[in-house]
Amino acid sequence: MLSTAEILEEKIRTRGARVGVVGLGYVGLPLAVEFAKAGFSVTGIDVSQEKARRVNAGDSYVGDVPSATLGPLVESGKLRATADFSAVLELDTINICVPTPLRKTKDPDMSYIVSACQEIARHFHAGMLIILESTTYPGTTDELVLPMLLKSGLEVGRDFFLCFSPERVDPGNPKFQTANIPKVVGGCTPACTEMGRLFYSQALERVVPVSSTQVAEMVKLLENTFRMINIGLVNEMALACDLMGIDVWEVIDAAATKPFGFMPFYPGPGLGGHCIPIDPFYLSWKTRQAGMEARFIELAGYINGQMPQFVADKVQNALNDAGKPVKGSRIHVMGVAYKRDIEDMRESPALDVILLLRQRGALVTYSDPYVPTVRLDGLTLAACPEEAAIDADCVVIVTDHAAFDYRALVDRSRLVVDTRNALKGIISDKIVQL
Ligand SMILES: NC(=O)c1ccc[n+]([C@@H]2O[C@H](COP(=O)([O-])OP(=O)(O)OC[C@H]3O[C@@H](n4cnc5c(N)ncnc54)[C@H](O)[C@@H]3O)[C@@H](O)[C@H]2O)c1
Repeated sequence: MLSTAEILEEKIRTRGARVGVVGLGYVGLPLAVEFAKAGFSVTGIDVSQEKARRVNAGDSYVGDVPSATLGPLVESGKLRATADFSAVLELDTINICVPTPLRKTKDPDMSYIVSACQEIARHFHAGMLIILESTTYPGTTDELVLPMLLKSGLEVGRDFFLCFSPERVDPGNPKFQTANIPKVVGGCTPACTEMGRLFYSQALERVVPVSSTQVAEMVKLLENTFRMINIGLVNEMALACDLMGIDVWEVIDAAATKPFGFMPFYPGPGLGGHCIPIDPFYLSWKTRQAGMEARFIELAGYINGQMPQFVADKVQNALNDAGKPVKGSRIHVMGVAYKRDIEDMRESPALDVILLLRQRGALVTYSDPYVPTVRLDGLTLAACPEEAAIDADCVVIVTDHAAFDYRALVDRSRLVVDTRNALKGIISDKIVQL
C-alpha cells in the first residue's frame, strides 16, 4: 500500500495536486499564477470578497500579473478564487501568503497568520502540504503553526507536511520574478522539506532546501536586515557628506568600480514597503525574547527614520536660500509610491515628507502616475498632472518613476530637491541634491 507521502508526491509530479494559496496579494497572486501556468488546478482564498471577485473576472490588481496572463488561466478553469475557507477540504497543498505587519509598539502582529491557520485547521485533512511564506520571526512555523495543525491528531512528516519558504519577490523587477527567483524551503522534518522541494520544483526554476523551518525563516530576515542596515549606513554617509559638502552619489559610483568586496546601496528619503522597514524588527523582537539586543537593527532603524526629516530640512533650507520661507510656499512632490514604477504606498516615506512640510506651513501637492489619491491625517490629496510643478516654489523628487520627464521638470521648475539622484547628468543651479 502506498504511504500518504507517496500518494501526495505522485499527485504533485503528475500536476494532479489541487493547489491552494491563502492571501492573494503581491506575493500570493503571482505564486498562484505560476502554479496555474505549470498546469496545476489552483484555488486562491482571500478574506477580501472584492479580490476574489476580481481574480474570477480575470482582472488583476497586482502590477507584476498582467490581466492578459490572469484572464486565460481563469477562463481555462486552472485558477479560481474564493473567500470561503471550506475550499480547503478539496485541496492538497496550501501556501500561506498573508500580511505580517508590526504593531504600533513594533512587536510582530501575528493575527493574520493565526486567523488563516485557524481557518485552515477547521478543514484540515491528511495528505496535505502546508507552506508558510509570510515573513516572520524564527520559530513561527514550529511553535505557532504546527501546534494548530497537530490538534487534528495527525502526525507531521507522515500524515501531513509543513514547511516554511521565504518569499523573495521584488514587485516591479523586470528581470527577477516569482518563477526565476531561487526558492529556499525548510520543513519540520526531512520528509516535509523533501515534499516542499518537490512541490516548488514543478513551477519554479531553482529550489534550495535547508535543514529546518528556523533556518528558512532566518534566511529571509538576514536578507532584509542586510538591506536595511546597508541603507542605514549609506544614509549616514549622505548625512556626513552633506555636512562636508561632498557629493555622496559621486562617492558611491566611484566606490562601486571596485570589482570585489563592495556593493552599492543608495541613500534616499527613508525606507518604504511592506518588507525592509518591518522585517528586521521581527528579528530584533525575537532576539530580545532571547535576552539579546540587536543593536545594528535599532541603529539603522533610527538613522533611516531620520531621513524624511532630513529631506524636509533640505527643502526648507533650499527655499530659505531662494529667499522664500517654507510657511506659505507651494511645494510639489514628484512620486509618492515607496519605490519607482509601482503603486504600493505601504510605509512610503513620501507620507512623512508631505506631513512634515505641511506641519511647517507649506501647501503641498503631488504627482504620481500610479497613485491617484493619498490619505494622510484624515485628509485626501488627489494627484495633479506633472505640469503642476511649474507653479510650485519648490519641487521635491521623492520617488523616481521612469515615466517622469526630468529634463522638462528642471527646465520648468524654479527649484528642485532631488532625493533619488534622478537628475543625474542634468546640470542646473536649480537642483539641490540629497
Ligand atoms: N510585497 C512584497 O514585496 C513581499 C516580498 C517578500 C515577502 N513578502 C511577505 O509576504 C507576505 C504577504 O505580503 P503581501 O505584500 O503579499 O501582502 P498583501 O497585503 O499584498 O496581501 C495579503 C493578502 O492576504 C489577505 N488576507 C489577510 N488576512 C487573511 C486571512 N486571514 N485569510 C486569507 N487572506 C487574508 C489580504 O486580503 C491580502 O489580499 C508578508 O509576510 C510580506 O512580508 C512581501
